[in-house]
Amino acid sequence: MRIVSGIQPTGNLHLGNYLGAIRNWVKMQDDMAAQGGQSLYFLADLHAISMPHDPAELAANTREMVAALVACGIDPDRSILFNQAQVPQHAELQWLLNGTARMGWLNRMTQFKDKSGKNREGASVALFTYPVLQAADVLLYQATHVPVGEDQKQHLELARDIAQKFNNDFATEENPVFTLPDPIIPPEAARIMSLRNGTAKMSKSDPSDMSRINLTDDADTIMQKIKKAKTDPEPLPSEKAGLEGRAEAANLVGIYAVMAGTTVEAVLSEFGGEGFGKFKPALGELLVSKLAPINHRFVELRQDRPALDAILKKGAEKARALAVPTLDRTYDALGLVRG
Ligand code: TYM
Repeated sequence: MRIVSGIQPTGNLHLGNYLGAIRNWVKMQDDMAAQGGQSLYFLADLHAISMPHDPAELAANTREMVAALVACGIDPDRSILFNQAQVPQHAELQWLLNGTARMGWLNRMTQFKDKSGKNREGASVALFTYPVLQAADVLLYQATHVPVGEDQKQHLELARDIAQKFNNDFATEENPVFTLPDPIIPPEAARIMSLRNGTAKMSKSDPSDMSRINLTDDADTIMQKIKKAKTDPEPLPSEKAGLEGRAEAANLVGIYAVMAGTTVEAVLSEFGGEGFGKFKPALGELLVSKLAPINHRFVELRQDRPALDAILKKGAEKARALAVPTLDRTYDALGLVRG
């Protein structure tokens, strides 16, 4: 088994990233270490330039994200932790796969529609071809499993389509060039929603910082954000069915359940009939107690820039070594002569 996944270093790590993806990264890293498999986790800095960005901020966020991931439990000695920019094989493979990806496939990607909005003509070409780079990210390493949140499912399906078409067009069934990767999406935290709007996902690009819990938030900030989170005036139901049509309440109860390592049913059997005046402080305290150790480690690590750069350098060396054989096979399969 080979696990590969990435995150954009465009801002703070938030609770959606943590519950939807990073928790699984840590778990799978530990499983892989026990089973002799491999886990590769990277910062998708090449993806980050698909939207307008500030170069100094991108560089600072890249290092901060390394510190945040290590604080969450990613161990650079057990996982390969790196950034795309130091492994040029990602961009190279993307170009080779551009010959296989179809315009019609990319036109169906909801992320491009969401992010370009009404300004399709003004969107960058990188935003449109973003999913092809994402396919290259995982196909380059023959990933078998990709732990992500629900919002990345469509991109993973595209990666499978590209791999399948490339194998059909340029390889044989007995000797395919690419492995078809399977997404791993945690059922209980597939989609953590905004604290201000239960129908929008929690996201770094939301202009309101009150919409998300950042893993770098201190205790007061977390308590404040949960206190101000949007809810409805009804008390919590005692049964799960009672959460239907109550997106904000369902989101908060779901977060509580995942953070406490229990089920939504168990949370409702404890808090059913109570108002948010009682539930919110309990949720805030739970978050503070679970996130405080991560926060402390992050604050320490983020100051050591040489150590963070050394982690990325070492990870990139290992990633490049794993990437080269697949890239060589891709060039050969396409009939590209390289001497
Ligand atoms: P990104 O940086 O937006 O998010 C990183 C991971 O966090 C998950 N996630 C969520 N899960 C549940 N609820 C939420 N509200 C939430 N918000 C984010 C995402 O699903 C993701 O797993 N395109 C990717 C980065 C990427 C990648 C890849 C991922 C580039 N190449 C190859 C996997 C494989 C992205 O922008 O994720």
